[in-house]
Amino acid sequence: MEIAVIPAPVRAASPPGAPFVLNTGTRIVVGPDPATAAIATVVAESLTRLGGLAVPTVAKDSSEPGAVVLRLTDDRSVLGLSVDVDAARSMGAYRLEVSRDRVVVTALDLPGLLHGVATLEQTSDRTRGSVRFPPLVATDAPRFGWRGLSLDVARHFFDVAAVRKVIDVMAGLKLNVLHLHLTDDQGWRLDVPSRPELAARSGGTAVDGDPGGYYTVEDYQEIVAYAQSRCITVIPEIDVPGHVNAALHACGELTPSGEPAPAYTGIGVGHSRLHADLEATGNFLHDVFTDVAALTPGHYVHIGGDEVLTMRPAEYASLVQAAATHVRAAGKGVVGWQEIAKTPLGPDTVVQYWTGAQGAEPVIAAAQAGAQVLLSPAHKVYLDMKYDDETPVGLVWAGHIEVRDAYDWEPLDVIPELPAECIVGVEAGIWSETIRSVDELFLLLLPRLAAVAEVAWSRPETRDWNDFAARLSVLAPRWTEAGLSWYRSPRVQW
Ligand code: ACM
Repeated sequence: MEIAVIPAPVRAASPPGAPFVLNTGTRIVVGPDPATAAIATVVAESLTRLGGLAVPTVAKDSSEPGAVVLRLTDDRSVLGLSVDVDAARSMGAYRLEVSRDRVVVTALDLPGLLHGVATLEQTSDRTRGSVRFPPLVATDAPRFGWRGLSLDVARHFFDVAAVRKVIDVMAGLKLNVLHLHLTDDQGWRLDVPSRPELAARSGGTAVDGDPGGYYTVEDYQEIVAYAQSRCITVIPEIDVPGHVNAALHACGELTPSGEPAPAYTGIGVGHSRLHADLEATGNFLHDVFTDVAALTPGHYVHIGGDEVLTMRPAEYASLVQAAATHVRAAGKGVVGWQEIAKTPLGPDTVVQYWTGAQGAEPVIAAAQAGAQVLLSPAHKVYLDMKYDDETPVGLVWAGHIEVRDAYDWEPLDVIPELPAECIVGVEAGIWSETIRSVDELFLLLLPRLAAVAEVAWSRPETRDWNDFAARLSVLAPRWTEAGLSWYRSPRVQW
């Protein structure tokens, strides 16, 4: 370990020299592109937090020491990347140069500027009463364009403040997709303007009768905007045609008897379903997906599609196609769990692989037909699995996942027959059946989310468990400083 940065950059070296010190002369210099202004504000806020001194943003560069320059370029050669990254996958690439007098972050796009600053922040040394950044030259680019976390806010609800904390951690790890699992059997967590009964009747329920909650439209917009300001895209998931008891509880017309289903507070799966032969079902799918797509600036809407155990394939396919049709009518791309792979959904579809139990053939066939594949193998990246027998919360159905298990795997080996160009990226998941508090949430997320972030960002040649563990031991105390819980794995020397 030369430099403690997670995820491991393509290349980073510490030349000799004095550090850059945060002081009253420190300022952010924004290039001529106005789009960088919002990014500069976020950077100024975080440097201000780090150093306890207000860091202003200025438009004009000068030779005075203390400038943190954020510079956009369209000249890829400026980055000096030593790896071959095609244009589609180079979103977020950056070059970071730190010397005594200035910091320069150069990038092709706004995510790159933020990622460069995330690297800078991780290298900060606060042991001598001031905030110092040792001299550094780093060139870096992500391996995969989609580096996500799926957060279940349906089994137990997490409010806007909690989601902001998750977003902060994600941004620090250069993750760029927050997938919100907004609906399930136990609760409905987003107020849908055309269907106010959904949140009104099923927003208050949760596993075990615990308190529920839901996002108003304003809450959701706040999450989306906060994420967007950190270059993280929110993908909302409305899970159909199974995992729908909360909808059946709120809308009696969705059940064959016309009576609302009782609230469900257990943790079983596969028992609830929509009915294609009810007219109300089509209207429900139209209203919900049209509204959710309209509320969402990101390109994708997730339609769920998993674990529908009591439906014939033709009915399943018709309901998934209906959901996809409404998403597409709103100009969005479709994401669904891997079960949707058997349903032809056309181009601009992302199939999210999660289990080996179903066989990979449908996923491979869907990829051959043009779908892209997102990798979330449960036994590696379902971060609600316990670390070991002692973990106080979590489930075990996909096995124990120690930090090293979440780290030591190669995305291209998950489905070896899948051409590499079909894989859009890697997404961790955390399901909240057993998670009742923000402390429990972060105890399960950290440090494994850092491990998955490195799998998604860093190339195999820069990944090494022992080196990662050493970097983790430097960076983990910062989670404590930020008031976050995390798991002190006995396999890491802290
Ligand atoms: C899933 O874990 N049911 C997607």
